[in-house]
Amino acid sequence: MFHASTAGRRADLGRSAAALMQSTLMQRLLLVEDDQALQFTIQTALEEKGYQVEAVSTTEEAIERLAGEKYPIVISDIYIDERTGLDVLNEAKRKDPQCSVILMTGRGTIETVRAASRGGAFDYIAKPFELDVMLDAIERAEAARAGEENEVEDGELPETEMIGSSPAMIEIYKTVDRVAETDATVIIEGETGTGKELVARMIHNMSRRASHSFMPVDCAALVSSNLLESELFGATRGAFTGADRDRLGVLEAAAKGTVFLDEIGEIDLKFQLALLRFLDTRQVRPLGAARSKEVDVRVIAATNLNLQRLVEEKKFREDLWYRLNTVRIFLPPLTERRGDIPLLTQFFLNKYNERYERKVKLLDSGLRALQNHTWPGNVRQLQHLIERLTILAQRVDAESVGQALTAMESRDRAVETLAEAEEDQIRKILQATGGNKSKAAQLLGIERKTLYRKLERMKL
Ligand SMILES: Nc1ncnc2c1ncn2[C@@H]1O[C@H](COP(=O)(O)OP(=O)(O)OP(=O)(O)O)[C@@H](O)[C@H]1O
Ligand SMILES: [Mg+2]
Repeated sequence: MFHASTAGRRADLGRSAAALMQSTLMQRLLLVEDDQALQFTIQTALEEKGYQVEAVSTTEEAIERLAGEKYPIVISDIYIDERTGLDVLNEAKRKDPQCSVILMTGRGTIETVRAASRGGAFDYIAKPFELDVMLDAIERAEAARAGEENEVEDGELPETEMIGSSPAMIEIYKTVDRVAETDATVIIEGETGTGKELVARMIHNMSRRASHSFMPVDCAALVSSNLLESELFGATRGAFTGADRDRLGVLEAAAKGTVFLDEIGEIDLKFQLALLRFLDTRQVRPLGAARSKEVDVRVIAATNLNLQRLVEEKKFREDLWYRLNTVRIFLPPLTERRGDIPLLTQFFLNKYNERYERKVKLLDSGLRALQNHTWPGNVRQLQHLIERLTILAQRVDAESVGQALTAMESRDRAVETLAEAEEDQIRKILQATGGNKSKAAQLLGIERKTLYRKLERMKL
């Protein structure tokens, strides 16, 4: 299994450069590339590094060479002639299952990526690439062959819930520290899964309000069902159909504590005005009530939308934006703080190893794969991936990470072809989660209703 991302590779883990140079001396490589100029460039660069490169331009020549002798490493373009690099891959693996095949293409699709992965390609590099990316892949292939896989050393984990020591996180800690003891309204922005709620809780826990409640409100869910106003401000009995008793609003219920308004970007203009009034006056008037009351509550809001853009588009009130903006915290996507991935990984691995009573180890190649991934779901996705691996894998290495990512990201598609392996995984995950189906669906990377369908099919 391989990982497809080529961005931000880091070769700074573990192995010493000198040791690598030693082991790479005169390593033989087969290079299959029909573009003469590119073939020449790659060949020259690799020869300079001390590799003995045999270059061919057609699949036929490649397969002939493979029939004749063993090559520890094969680098092949995918689209060559009437046959492809996938044929070269299959032939190389058939001759020598240990052979590391690195595929490259400028026309990759999800299908070629999956075919390569199923065929056991070591890595898959998108063209155009920097030569360093290719060299890194070759070095990793060698290290893997040499059985040099080191276990990543357990670093000192801080005694904290919020992990990350990157410059961006340090700036966030400073802001949190400064605002925690004030009552300032805070807006937290960032993509999904970057830790917005965690930061909000941290602010609350570090404030004088810590002994009172922290109440999250999912604005997006409530606004669509028209319940946001009564949820926040409360309602008297009979204020609207269905209000069969007085309902205490969250702003009042959280007295002396903190209310966390999640997905604030989703609220409609009418409610924006109501919220602005509240922030200005600190008074709430429940729906149907004659009088308002003063409440002491801190508001922290979060959004994964670009509020400034919404303001420009007139979908979000400018005055409310300024009001919320007293303190603004931006959580960067995980790919902008890749340096935190080792610590986060170790943190989650310890947590889930403990929870599921496992001893899953983190290996160099696994960490590299995690660091090279693009993480659209940010820290949450990393967390789920590690949780899944502690349940299903023996170790966290490039292969298990690649498999888990493919499974979690390709969702249903992978499932149809892997029905049996998947049923086995479903059983294991359900068992580990004590039958909790929502949790299991999350870890499997499928919708809950998809899981129900599968369970039905499995007669579970
Ligand atoms: N820096 C971090 N250290 C440890 N765990 C983290 C960190 N950031 C996020 N997490 C964990 O990742 C998960 C998602 O975080 P959180 O719910 O705070 O994200 P969010 O930004 O609110 O996402 P969304 O916009 O999807 O609601 C949580 O389980 C949280 O504990
Ligand atoms: Mg959230």
